[in-house]
Amino acid sequence: MKGLYTALVASAITGAFAAPSPVENGPITARANAAACATPVTLSGNPFTRSIYANKEYAKEVSSAAAAITDSALKAKATKVASVGTFLWIDTRARISVIEENLKDVPCDQLAAFVIYDLPGRDCAAKASNGELAVGDINVYKTEYIDPIVAIFKKYPNTAIALVIEPDSLPNLVTNIDEQACKDSASGYREGVAYALKSLNLPNIIMYIDAGHGGWLGWNDNLKPGAQELAKVYKNAGSPKQVRGISTNVAGWNQWDLSPGEFSKATDAQWNKCQNEKIYIETFGPLLKDAGMPGQAIIDTGRNGKSGLRKAWGDWCNVIGAGFGKRPTSSTGSSLADAFVWVKPGGESDGTSDTSATRYDSFCGKEDAFKPSPEAGQWNQAYFEQLLKNANPSF
Ligand code: BGC
Repeated sequence: MKGLYTALVASAITGAFAAPSPVENGPITARANAAACATPVTLSGNPFTRSIYANKEYAKEVSSAAAAITDSALKAKATKVASVGTFLWIDTRARISVIEENLKDVPCDQLAAFVIYDLPGRDCAAKASNGELAVGDINVYKTEYIDPIVAIFKKYPNTAIALVIEPDSLPNLVTNIDEQACKDSASGYREGVAYALKSLNLPNIIMYIDAGHGGWLGWNDNLKPGAQELAKVYKNAGSPKQVRGISTNVAGWNQWDLSPGEFSKATDAQWNKCQNEKIYIETFGPLLKDAGMPGQAIIDTGRNGKSGLRKAWGDWCNVIGAGFGKRPTSSTGSSLADAFVWVKPGGESDGTSDTSATRYDSFCGKEDAFKPSPEAGQWNQAYFEQLLKNANPSF
């Protein structure tokens, strides 16, 4: 927990959410701050003035990864990754069992962060992350997934929590509705996301609905339909107070403010003015507001440390050469961006490269996809070491 003290000290000084600083050991006096809040937490405004809790699941993965590294300099760097606060994905009903363990020790100046990710017919336009619930299992989603999560969160009113809601789901309904699987999933996605938003609308929770990335809903023709799709679901949920906006670039590779943007020389670039995530959220946010939904954003910078790696903007699977990106911080330089966050736990795979696997997706066999790679969510030691070596800023 070395990084903890550093973060506490920095946030005390700046009042802002602090990225782990290069100084590894802060004064021990900061330890007094590490207790849980004594009274119920009510979140309003940017919740990332608190730093993200470094959850035990990622810390465990990273510690074993560090233990397996022989090069001592790289091992020391790997160890530091364990203290970065990241989102914890609740990607099955069984996974609900780790939530409590990752809520009970969260200090008052931090927030626990989770990804809600178990919709029926999950990942309808791809195969790698197809989930455990089939199209039509909406009641299972509500009663065996969302309700038990809500019950746990209700036991911890004194703990601040941030949630990313169902990555890729609503964006798929905007751009991939021609695919049969997305057509079949559409009503369950809309009902499921609305149910999640309504049920999880507790004072100590702030939610962000996933909005893909600039290379997805950022196309001129997708912007308005995208904003309308998200806002419709938000309004169907009763416009929950604790929804603050959107998450973007989740498990993605886009740069924050690179200009000209990474794909601005592509032949179709004229059709997309959102060539980096900053332009995307500053374009999409106001459209959300027009459509009746709040437009603040958090951006996943966990793996975007290096640019120029993808052959095509849509290449999403285990991109070769990637590095850890900017550490979580609320200093973004954009009033619409609440924070840079690490949503995808760097080192966990995006999808298997095993062509015989049921969830094999051809994107994970592309020239720019790292091989071999295990099933989505499984640890890939070689990929973790690559992220570490290419980290920008470095560890
Ligand atoms: C996988 C999930 C996993 C998450 C985080 C997704 O692509 O489908 O199972 O929890 O990534 O690694």
